[in-house]
Amino acid sequence: MAAVVLIGTQWGDEGKGKITDFLAEKADMVVRYQGGNNAGHTVVIGKETFKLHLIPSGIFYSEKVCVIGNGVVIDPKVLIEELDYLDNRGVKTSNLKISSSAHVIMPYHRILDALEEESKGDKKIGTTKRGIGPAYKDKASRTGIRISDFLDKEDLAAKLQDNLKEKNLLITKIYGHEPLKYEDVLEECLMYAERIRPYVVDASLEINNCLADGKKVLFEGAQGTLLDLDHGTYPYVTSSNPIAGGACVGAGVGPTRISKVVGVVKAYTTRVGEGPFPTELTCQMGELIREKGGEYGTTTGRPRRCGWLDVVIMRYAVRVSGISDFAFTKLDVLTGIESLKICTGYRYQGQILREFPQSLKVLAECEAIYEEMPGWQEDLTGITEYAQLPVQAQNYIQRFEELTGVSVTMLAVGPGRDQTIVRGDIF
Ligand code: GDP
Ligand code: IMO
Ligand code: MG
Repeated sequence: MAAVVLIGTQWGDEGKGKITDFLAEKADMVVRYQGGNNAGHTVVIGKETFKLHLIPSGIFYSEKVCVIGNGVVIDPKVLIEELDYLDNRGVKTSNLKISSSAHVIMPYHRILDALEEESKGDKKIGTTKRGIGPAYKDKASRTGIRISDFLDKEDLAAKLQDNLKEKNLLITKIYGHEPLKYEDVLEECLMYAERIRPYVVDASLEINNCLADGKKVLFEGAQGTLLDLDHGTYPYVTSSNPIAGGACVGAGVGPTRISKVVGVVKAYTTRVGEGPFPTELTCQMGELIREKGGEYGTTTGRPRRCGWLDVVIMRYAVRVSGISDFAFTKLDVLTGIESLKICTGYRYQGQILREFPQSLKVLAECEAIYEEMPGWQEDLTGITEYAQLPVQAQNYIQRFEELTGVSVTMLAVGPGRDQTIVRGDIF
């Protein structure tokens, strides 16, 4: 039995899709446990690039079971589009399973996400406007619609009526927008329900049975540690728990089952959306990294803010998720930069902070303290052995390991499956 949780250690987009696809080869089951289609996970197989938002990145191995757990919020329209997208590209999706307890993103959630953001003006979060926050809000308020309700015509009709009464008041009276028509929404939902029905299961039972059979399960996190609702840079966060603990809640698996936690870390830092970012580079270097790394959002296409690698964040991610191994991605993007910087602490009002501050106000005032290391000029994208990496690249990784106290078990030097250097086993 092995249950490995894979998480993002920064503000998302660390390359979780690529590493999940890589590790999925050895797994029997791949499970998404939180978030929704705010995620954009890219998987490159040969000459083909796939972008996934909801379906686990293990789907490219037709014999693996892929599960969308109870902790995910599911937009049925997006799910169906994604099933069709994969189908059209020859990817088999019959091994997908969906938890009957997952909550549904309804059309009014999408509308409210956009309206709430607009009304916040310069205080906006910079959400993906996919209805994620409003759907989780209803879940916490105990008024949400679960997949099991969605599949029951009577339950759906009744819950939709109650919800729409309140949502339409909000939409029209607070935001001055057109109301939604009950009959239209119901009709659309009933159509989606039939398409989804064959995939729906008791996901926690399936996952635990799989583990009991001695099989291997990989939990694929979405977003990242600093977007975590409890541990991230609140309020500039998402509305779920991307940290490793989220896998237990969002999949219905006990903590004693988890054997390893893989933290995916990008060789530098990026952030989409608003909020403080101590190592952000607003100069030409930031632009250079954005262009070289192709740092534009997979979901929204927004340019990602770029900055140096921040080890204060990494130590924090190790602490809150119990990371046992790092998967280090996009090392190839740093080729050609003469001198690289790693942030090892923050300067705040004359003090030096080594731990990630709890207060957003403090974080916003922090100035990064850097260690500088020589870069390398060699192209890394064809390297398959660690020992073949330029010595400066090895030194960069070694210093990262010293500063975090955790080993880099996998190293990515390109988006492709074969552009992955393995230094140890995860499964
Ligand atoms: P995720 O949300 O964590 O799955 O990451 P995204 O897919 O949003 O963004 C990561 C991007 O970097 C994708 O375009 C990947 O194909 C790409 N990528 C992943 N690993 C590497 C790598 O080691 N080198 C390069 N150059 N690109 C990578
Ligand atoms: P993956 O899984 C990067 C960010 C949004 C915004 C904040 C809240 O691809 O790493 P939300 O729509 O979730 O309410 O937006 O979270 N965000 C992400 N940033 N990668 C993601 O997912 C993200 N999912 C949400 O930009 O700042
Ligand atoms: Mg992404």
